[in-house]
Amino acid sequence: MKTLKVHLDKKAQSSHEIRIGRNILDRMVLLLAKNHKASRYGIITDHHVNRLYGKALLEAMSGAGLNAFLLEIPAGEASKTIAAAMDLAGRLLEAGADRGTLLIALGGGVVGDLTGFVASVYMRSVPYVQIPTTLVGQVDSAIGGKTAVDLPQGKNLLGTFYQPRAVFADLRFLDTLPEREFANGLAEIIKYGIIDDEKLFQRLEEDMESVRHRDPERLSALVETCCRIKKSIVEMDEREQGLRRILNFGHTLGHALETASGYTLSHGEGVALGMIAAARLSVKMKYLPESDEKRVEKVIAGAGLPVRIDPSLDAKAVMDGLKMDKKKRNNVVHFVLIRKIGMPFVNGGIEDETIRGVLEDMKA
Ligand SMILES: NC(=O)c1ccc[n+]([C@@H]2O[C@H](COP(=O)([O-])OP(=O)(O)OC[C@H]3O[C@@H](n4cnc5c(N)ncnc54)[C@H](O)[C@@H]3O)[C@@H](O)[C@H]2O)c1
Repeated sequence: MKTLKVHLDKKAQSSHEIRIGRNILDRMVLLLAKNHKASRYGIITDHHVNRLYGKALLEAMSGAGLNAFLLEIPAGEASKTIAAAMDLAGRLLEAGADRGTLLIALGGGVVGDLTGFVASVYMRSVPYVQIPTTLVGQVDSAIGGKTAVDLPQGKNLLGTFYQPRAVFADLRFLDTLPEREFANGLAEIIKYGIIDDEKLFQRLEEDMESVRHRDPERLSALVETCCRIKKSIVEMDEREQGLRRILNFGHTLGHALETASGYTLSHGEGVALGMIAAARLSVKMKYLPESDEKRVEKVIAGAGLPVRIDPSLDAKAVMDGLKMDKKKRNNVVHFVLIRKIGMPFVNGGIEDETIRGVLEDMKA
């Protein structure tokens, strides 16, 4: 089992460890018992993950003498609402959860974001631990302490920064992940290569096949590399005042595309298209050589992610979606662009016309 330490401010409560390994359930439970003592442990999980892993975790915890209970939520983004958060808080009350209770998010980004959000406000905050079960969760959403629920107007518009006490990534969970969910995680991994690590990007160019076959050693190395990248960015800018914004590479247009498609595009598919659009914008603005944009597109295609926008997608809806982006400042949407692979920067705003042009080109 690998251990990475996330160093945040001086408060020991906020700094924490990320543990990565395969088949680490028992060790996870021992570490919970040793380092995260609580009077009760509330496991929050979704319907799919509960069927696969909920009982095993509950039994392992009970077997270790921990007083644990489990609450299930429906799977999917629809569970990331304020209504779902209120429902969960009500069920925690019914289960007798108090400030001595530690919550455990067992699932993907939806469970993680919702549990983190509820943990940050339930009885003015209770501690929580992330046990991510998707690739998105293990390389991205479980790290960094961003919690959120969606509003009808857009995703993640209500949330907090609230760090987990620990993150445990068991690679075994990825064995059961459906293909499309796995590809969502690949989009985030490609993003880390583009914004931070040209070597990582080159390896993906060389061996995407073994990654897609979920080669255990390759996956373990990838999850660790991505966790290192994300943690070091979060350490420098926990509250996204500057540097952390580069993690949004591909996400600004990605979210708008995802929403405009009526969610027929998954998050990772939206991000994949958003990354290509950002690379194309970088070329248009003469920051990036066209050959690098082609490399981005090729790796994304190799991961089984889309590289073209459905011609029926309404460009106006995408542009409207951009205007809702919560990262916009002074009414200007800032894009993360690149000068080369591994060298991102935040652009001060791009003309609508230029963005529309790139979207139209990507329909070709
Ligand atoms: N907080 C952050 O920094 C951050 C970063 C990225 C994404 N997110 C959020 O994360 C969410 C997306 O997360 P996600 O992609 O993990 O989606 P998800 O949580 O909806 O999980 C995807 C699907 O996979 C199923 N599943 C989970 N683990 C499984 C496993 N091991 N085997 C089989 N099926 C499994 C789930 O039940 C669900 O149906 C979005 O809401 C996004 O906004 C947050």
